[in-house]
Amino acid sequence: MDCLKQARELAVEAALAAGKIQRERRNNVCLVGFKGEIDPVTETDLLCEKEIIGRISERFPDHAILAEESGEAPGDSAYKWVVDPLDGTVNYSHGFPFYCVSIGLTFQDEPVLGVVYNSNQDELFVAEKGKGATMNGQPISVSKTANLKQSLLVTGFAYDVAQSDDDNLDHFRNFIKASQGVRRPGSAAMDLVYTALGRFEGFWEMKLRPWDMAAGKLIVEEAGGRVTRFDGLPQSIYDNEILATNGLVHEAMVEVLRRSK
Ligand code: IPD
Ligand code: CA
Ligand code: CA
Repeated sequence: MDCLKQARELAVEAALAAGKIQRERRNNVCLVGFKGEIDPVTETDLLCEKEIIGRISERFPDHAILAEESGEAPGDSAYKWVVDPLDGTVNYSHGFPFYCVSIGLTFQDEPVLGVVYNSNQDELFVAEKGKGATMNGQPISVSKTANLKQSLLVTGFAYDVAQSDDDNLDHFRNFIKASQGVRRPGSAAMDLVYTALGRFEGFWEMKLRPWDMAAGKLIVEEAGGRVTRFDGLPQSIYDNEILATNGLVHEAMVEVLRRSK
């Protein structure tokens, strides 16, 4: 529909504008506080979110918005924007170049548009439901590797890793032994789009939030991948676990995830 075409243009403009803010401030990061012991917020998180929300609410005043730093703003429409202004804040605050902007649009809570912008490498990922996924305008697709032993996997750990027993470490151990390797680079949205691009065969993580997954989930699916819960059943971005793969190693990953709770 026409609304989606306009939404896509707006999401791309907003992601590029937020990415510019990230680049301009990356060598002079200003920490404004912590949401938990190891969960920082920088001035860049706030500025990027303000930039993105300002553009969305001006153009689509009736749409709902769920954004990491400011929470939920209800709307009169079934469309909801789900925004992570800076995914990978710990990396950003250390100068480790692996973070991005993630902007998803859902209709009745299902992603219909996803834009992820890696502002360091200038990699712009876009997907619209039913229309495929692109990076910098070129169609992308998941990898063709079907063997878990030849698969490079990726995951992450929640900010409560020190306090919780539900900490992903059993799965991490099991996958390290079952695959070619496991990376933990620190940005769930980047992990998802690199799975869509075929750099990783599979990604799993627990305790993520909708803004970490909304855009990247659709980008993986539109690149030919598969996204489910750990048990292989359909996943909602409001679930707190996600398994995203090239499809070919999906069942093998479900099997490994079954080995521990
Ligand atoms: C975090 C990153 C990280 C994941 C954490 C997320 P933030 O998001 O995506 O990879 O492991 O669970 O909270 O805080 O940098 O936006
Ligand atoms: Ca995030
Ligand atoms: Ca964030």
